[in-house]
Amino acid sequence: MEMSNTNDEVKTSAVRGEQPELAATIEETAEILEIEELVMEGDAASIHTGENTELFSELAYGAGFTNSGENETAVLSEKETGLIDQRDIEKLLLFTNQIQAFHHLMMEYDCAMAEVRTKLEVLNKELSLRNNRNPFESIKCRIKKPVSIYGKLQRKGIPFAVSSIEDNLSDIAGVRVICSFVDDIYMLKDCLKKQDDIRIVREKDYIAKPKENGYRSLHLILEVPIFLTQEKKYMRVEVQFRTIAMDFWASLEHKLQYKQNLENAASISEELMYSAELINQLDCRMQQIREKIDNGKTRTNKPVGERKQKDVS
Ligand code: GTP
Ligand code: MG
Repeated sequence: MEMSNTNDEVKTSAVRGEQPELAATIEETAEILEIEELVMEGDAASIHTGENTELFSELAYGAGFTNSGENETAVLSEKETGLIDQRDIEKLLLFTNQIQAFHHLMMEYDCAMAEVRTKLEVLNKELSLRNNRNPFESIKCRIKKPVSIYGKLQRKGIPFAVSSIEDNLSDIAGVRVICSFVDDIYMLKDCLKKQDDIRIVREKDYIAKPKENGYRSLHLILEVPIFLTQEKKYMRVEVQFRTIAMDFWASLEHKLQYKQNLENAASISEELMYSAELINQLDCRMQQIREKIDNGKTRTNKPVGERKQKDVS
């Protein structure tokens, strides 16, 4: 999106708080973007799970920020952002001399996210060898976009400053783990909790106690250490565990949050609640079937082992 200089100046002064009306619009747009983030999250994340790390780092740093601090990459399109774009946030950071600190902090979150991802991948490798199946199907990672960070701080009534990010937000780095079976979710959670370099800050079990709308997932806020040249630093990472079916439900339900003023919103909510219950039953059934298959395997294998032993003696 090309902007005229005058437009730029107006927006810059708005983020500086000199034009409260425009600043309010920016805040509103940031709120919309926060809702949109989850939809986009999936895209950014699936890129991260693939090979295209270059594109991921662009997305991870918010499509308008680069590690060099120069405005090299494209800003989000006008359609995506409305009035505010990443460049506005960048200007705000430049204006307040915080851009380097911001990049550094985002780099730290990126490292912490990679640590958690590696921990989960290690567990996946070991457990899949032991149990002959993967405890999770996929893993998605994302760093919250600067515009979303701005919006969330605004909503909490906290001024946008690098120093307020770490103190007030726990979901800058996000990891979503998609499992086939509910018992794998708890197993992975227990394995993570046992690791002595991880601190558990918060645990929310929306599987045992689903949200009123039917949302199910297990959320952990962790603190993991990252080792930098001069220091060891604990960084927060949000980890969400879900089954494939829960994930499917959550992405559809999320679309409802994003679509405002829907005429039939109430009946859609009801259908979603009903579907969440069906999904819960399906997840339970699938786990029971898997257990039957697993137990069945053990029984058929036994005589083979016995036969072998007899042959030896
Ligand atoms: P934020 O929602 O991030 O401000 O934090 P919170 O303290 O309310 O955390 P919570 O653990 O409840 O939710 C964190 C994240 O879980 C959200 O940002 C969403 O990604 C996801 N989530 C929580 N509730 C819902 C829901 O009802 N529907 C969907 N689709 N996702 C949800
Ligand atoms: Mg969040």
